Amino acid sequence: MAAVEAAVGENGRERIVVFACNWCSYAGADGAGVARLQQPPNARIIRTMCSGRVAEKFILRAFELGAAMVLVSGCHLADCHYISANSWTQKRVDRLWDRLEKLGIRPERLQLEWISAAEGQKFARVMQEIEEMRKTVTAEEIEHTRRVLAEEREKEAVRKKPRVKA
Ligand code: FES
Repeated sequence: MAAVEAAVGENGRERIVVFACNWCSYAGADGAGVARLQQPPNARIIRTMCSGRVAEKFILRAFELGAAMVLVSGCHLADCHYISANSWTQKRVDRLWDRLEKLGIRPERLQLEWISAAEGQKFARVMQEIEEMRKTVTAEEIEHTRRVLAEEREKEAVRKKPRVKA
């Protein structure tokens, strides 16, 4: 969770938080950097071993801290290095899109992309598209997101609290 907090940092409203799997998307991002392809300077990448490792709570925490956009990226579906863990990523993100919508948060603020190590161009293009979306996210939306997700987290903590018999 500390990595998420560091990635969002002080200026969450501008921030794009990217979860990139070590074997594919992170290498794709690296390729984009080596090729000097233009990328938004306000993106912060968190390297994970697999996109399947990106828990819902990490994504929700990034939004609660004020991130404007979150990208989850990993290997193409047949190429996951942990058998088919990224098919769980797809299901998790599907669930989150529904949940965000129910909470009045635009689901498109969470993006999912499969990007291989050889797709530096694609990584740079996706980042530019996300930066364009980021510019449409208003301060009010971010405030709403922060408030709603903080309330959800508190409700969850109360639900999980062990009950003591009188
Ligand atoms: S190792 Fe890249 S998505 Fe699983």
